[in-house]
Amino acid sequence: MVGLGPKPPPSRKGTGLADAPKDLVNEIKHLEELFTIDTAKLKEITNHFVNELAKGLSEKGGSIPMNPTWVMSRPSGHETGSFLALDMGGTNLRVCQVTLTEQKSEFDIIQSKYRIPEELKTGDADELWEYIADCLLQFIETHHGDVAKIEKLPLGFTFSYPATQNYIDEGILQRWTKGFDIAGVEGKNVVPMFEAALASRGVPCKLTALINDTTGTLIASAYTDPKMMIGCIFGTGCNAAYFEDCGSIPKLAHLNLPPDTPMAINCEWGAFDNEGKVLPRTPYDITIDRDSPRPGQQAFEKMIAGLYLGEIFRLVMVDLHKKPSVKLFDGQDVSKLFKPYSLDSSFLSAIEEDPFENLSETLDLFQTKLNINPSHPELELIRRTAELIGTRAARLSACGVAAITKKKGYTSCHVGADGSVFNKYPHFKARGAQALREILDWPEKANPKDEDPIEILAAEDGSGVGAALIAALTLERVRAGNMHGILHPENFK
Ligand code: GLC
Repeated sequence: MVGLGPKPPPSRKGTGLADAPKDLVNEIKHLEELFTIDTAKLKEITNHFVNELAKGLSEKGGSIPMNPTWVMSRPSGHETGSFLALDMGGTNLRVCQVTLTEQKSEFDIIQSKYRIPEELKTGDADELWEYIADCLLQFIETHHGDVAKIEKLPLGFTFSYPATQNYIDEGILQRWTKGFDIAGVEGKNVVPMFEAALASRGVPCKLTALINDTTGTLIASAYTDPKMMIGCIFGTGCNAAYFEDCGSIPKLAHLNLPPDTPMAINCEWGAFDNEGKVLPRTPYDITIDRDSPRPGQQAFEKMIAGLYLGEIFRLVMVDLHKKPSVKLFDGQDVSKLFKPYSLDSSFLSAIEEDPFENLSETLDLFQTKLNINPSHPELELIRRTAELIGTRAARLSACGVAAITKKKGYTSCHVGADGSVFNKYPHFKARGAQALREILDWPEKANPKDEDPIEILAAEDGSGVGAALIAALTLERVRAGNMHGILHPENFK
């Protein structure tokens, strides 16, 4: 056993509800009905999704934005050069310097992370841009010394919000997602705002590409794996990008682009089914939407993404506590539980990871975080609720992946995925893979070690390496004379 580390604790065998009070047993059954999505429903959602992807590419458009990104080739693995990459995600800001080396598909990276202060997310636009410019400046000063003396560095900016891109170096923010709510940015081009902050702080870099995290994930993963066809993020938000042919994008027909040329599309699939046609939304999903800064938007994302999973769980607990017919946390001080968004998805992860039959870790968690002392049957209900919410998220995610593969006619490919939910939420990968199997009617594997026809794999670093690669690909094609979608040719000299 030397070197193998401690033996993992045995996993739990399931619910011990034999002696549980009837009201709790009934509630568990009801929650199971609300949150379980069977194979037939998964297929129905997927088929509707395929149509909605096509609608988003049409001239008229649909609720999924399907934004062309002007990334018009796959990386060859032979890209080279040094780039800055700035990643503005939902939670952190990250600045990287990425060097694509002479060796095929290899790179070096140095990086610094900064937490985006909560108050900036709903504050003033200038403060946000200045904060970002300051982080960038600090990074360059640390790694390059005197900023006055260095040449301007090319920068790939990963701005992971829905932005229409008429050009690769332009991004008109359609709307904030992931809980951001900053006045004066929606409907505007974020690039001049960002560039003004860079100029006022004297940050020596030139914006070469504005990208989405999903596009970055797709390109970074395709850099090392030729089978990679889709990039996904399952994190604070949830979204995907894939390669479409220019000839299948009616809304770009007026540009007469070569029909076989690829174009990476940032789907912004979080907006799938905003009109409420197929998703089986529970009363809890409806509450989340109603109380969010942007009601009626990101319907799919609000059922899947890390930002919302803990809140869905909290709403279930609050609802059951308030129900006269149910005794849940009866007589306890539940004031902490009543605080919106006080539980994040790591709280659910921890519940699902509790390996003990008596759920002692979940008990600890409730005591320390919420000041609540659940009984054993209550712990069982807590565990089952977490499983239901986590499973639903993974199964719905699979519908999006299956829809893209169906639209493209891929029967075998790799999908690169990143984000906290994908990387850290227990069983998310296996549950997603199982749902794909059901949707796409794959036979059982002969050998459990065999690959599935479509595998969702951990991606390469999209918003760092991917952003640098996209900057490199853009520089390369501009130098070769392909100026499609370039607004500021001077930045590419
Ligand atoms: C949200 C954003 C989208 C991003 C995703 C994952 O859905 O709108 O742009 O890709 O979160 O971060």
